[in-house]
Amino acid sequence: MPSLPTPATVLITAGPTYEPIDAVRFIGNRSSGRLGVELARAAHAVGLDVILALGPNTVAPPVLPDRMRIEPFRSCADLEALLADLWPAQAQVLIMAAAVADYRPKQPAAAGKLRRDAEGLTIQMEATPDLVAACAARRTPGQKVIGFALEPAASLAHAAGEKLKRKELDAIVANPLETMDADEIDGFLMRADGRRDSPGRLSKPMFAAWLIDRVMRM
Ligand code: CTP
Repeated sequence: MPSLPTPATVLITAGPTYEPIDAVRFIGNRSSGRLGVELARAAHAVGLDVILALGPNTVAPPVLPDRMRIEPFRSCADLEALLADLWPAQAQVLIMAAAVADYRPKQPAAAGKLRRDAEGLTIQMEATPDLVAACAARRTPGQKVIGFALEPAASLAHAAGEKLKRKELDAIVANPLETMDADEIDGFLMRADGRRDSPGRLSKPMFAAWLIDRVMRM
């Protein structure tokens, strides 16, 4: 029996972050955001209200249905500000599928476009804040925070378990690095109580539907 009351709101973050260097350049990553968007569709399909925080270069559903709202972000700082507005106030569940940069340029983005210089360019990077850990720290009783771990298959279970504990999440979706950019996923869900659930290899839409069903029962 689903334990999440409907209507309830789920906040899903999807896609990469782009960390600006100047007005035209950034440091990004290869996340397509597809799984996050499929999770939004699947959550909507079971009657949940959805807030989809969508990163740059990530394709939103072509027609936005009722009960689904898109909030765009570009950088880790944008997403941090968005989450400060939305969490814990506006949703009962946070699914943090966004591939947030681990590092960003330490210097603020240069105004205009940096010119090519034969001397080269050195960019000093700083660690970004851990957004999902901060959200977990400010959740209220009954709220759930689910993170993601994309790691090589050989060390996946160990690394995902470590992230689940370190970030104090309710659950983590462990995803083998080898399936990045693929149409299918062979991931599993690890919960804070140690239970592990695996649906086997599935397409991204099927995996998303499976995961939303599990999350609703948490
Ligand atoms: N995450 C986040 N803020 C960051 C980095 C990651 O909220 N600055 C979230 C991701 O959205 C994901 C989870 O943390 O849900 C795991 O991301 P990952 O990059 O694998 O973990 P890291 O904390 O960066 O750990 P490590 O560098 O050891 O891999």
